[in-house]
Amino acid sequence: MAKTKKITVLIFGKVILSGEHSVVYGEPALVAAVDKKMRITLEQAAQFELSSQTEDKLGLVKYALEKSGMKPEKVRVTIRSEIPSGMGTSAAVCAGVIKAAYEYQKRTLDKDKWFQLTWECEKKAHWNSSGVDPAAVIYGGLLWYVRGREMKHLAIPTTYSLVLVDSGTPLESTGEMVSGLAKRSINPSIKEKIVEIGGVTRKIRQKLELGADIRELINENGLLLEEVGLVGNKGQEIGRRLRKMGYGVKITGAGGVKEGSGRLMVVGANLEAIKDRGYQAFEVSIGGV
Ligand code: MEV
Repeated sequence: MAKTKKITVLIFGKVILSGEHSVVYGEPALVAAVDKKMRITLEQAAQFELSSQTEDKLGLVKYALEKSGMKPEKVRVTIRSEIPSGMGTSAAVCAGVIKAAYEYQKRTLDKDKWFQLTWECEKKAHWNSSGVDPAAVIYGGLLWYVRGREMKHLAIPTTYSLVLVDSGTPLESTGEMVSGLAKRSINPSIKEKIVEIGGVTRKIRQKLELGADIRELINENGLLLEEVGLVGNKGQEIGRRLRKMGYGVKITGAGGVKEGSGRLMVVGANLEAIKDRGYQAFEVSIGGV
């Protein structure tokens, strides 16, 4: 009996250290791949089937297959993910399905082409995607990313521990958060703050390269993100409490205002002390050579 074709690929999630949203406007971002993975399997089937823990409301899987030159039929796609929401899920789905589809068709795919296809696919989810999440899940490591202009791996001397605190699932999609800010950015004071976030990101890079404390700059970034309307009351309140404990706090990812704001990234923190306060949290680390 002929063996059925089956391809499995693994993709890792990401955390944005600084520069979410402002990266859409050409400012730099600092982003790192994290040890949370997604397993995507593609195999022969009688018809198209998708098995995933979460519904693919945007149709990213079919779109990624089409982008890879495959008709979304006679194939079963299975997605098993431990990537928490807000940490690169859309980019990982696009990147994983595209890579698996190329392998399934025995076609070669270099990283730059893989990145371009993933970016195009992810635009379906992020509206005006900057490409920062596709860059992180494809190139890995700690990246300095400027949309369409620069992508550089950074080697930093110190390991930074980041605690990710759940502030509640946002009701808005990333695309809604990105397009909402685009409307508000017509206001010059909002546009100024977006540019300011870019300045803070540049300073954070300098500190990271020296292995220095970034708490203050993370708070500056976090407060600017609040001021441009990306963090709801619940997220702001948690941020205030954690800052009082001496930590650096900002949202990571698109944020949310109606309900939760997704993950808050906390630096200089003790995971157990945060959990003891009743928050749901986990830790990832970046950097170190
Ligand atoms: C989402 O992870 C990051 C955003 O800046 C959108 C993007 O850059 O594509 C909010």
